[in-house]
Amino acid sequence: MTSEADPLTLVLVGPMAAGKTSVGRRVARRLGVPFVDTDKRIVAAHGPIPVIFTEHGEAHFRDLERVEVLEALSEARSEGGVISLGGGAVTQADTRDLLKDQPVVFLTVSADAVADRLRGGNRPLLAGGEDPVERWKRIFEERRRWYAEVASTTFDTSRRPMQKIADEIVAWRREQR
Ligand code: S3P
Repeated sequence: MTSEADPLTLVLVGPMAAGKTSVGRRVARRLGVPFVDTDKRIVAAHGPIPVIFTEHGEAHFRDLERVEVLEALSEARSEGGVISLGGGAVTQADTRDLLKDQPVVFLTVSADAVADRLRGGNRPLLAGGEDPVERWKRIFEERRRWYAEVASTTFDTSRRPMQKIADEIVAWRREQR
């Protein structure tokens, strides 16, 4: 049961296409709390992410992202919530600071498993000449230490049904109370 005094919150971080949105939505449903995808909030308020990157640059996107993370965390303080962050949110020290003392789940995925998930995507950091999986691997390696820094626990999403992973995360979160 979620109570106002102790609302169930959970933050999901991890590389692009790790399953943060699909797992997060399922976890929120099971916990009976709202689900927030910070990328979707940014798009709703400011338009498509590739356009933000092209017109204003990545640094501006990171500022918008930090504001959405702060807002989602403050909403979750009263009503609980599962908050799924974009893959690069952890690159900002100020955003990582917001995650201190939060229950943070780091979703990992192997490069083999991610190849299918990246097809047809709309991610500006994977656009361009280089093979998207190679670029994804490089970016993941650059960020791995930041994911580890903010994470309370880690789950791998490579080869198991998203619902099963979500169930395990729910069980883990309930144990933390
Ligand atoms: C990004 C990941 C994307 C989105 C933006 C930048 C990144 O979110 O925030 O394209 O820097 O890794 P997903 O992790 O949901 O793909």
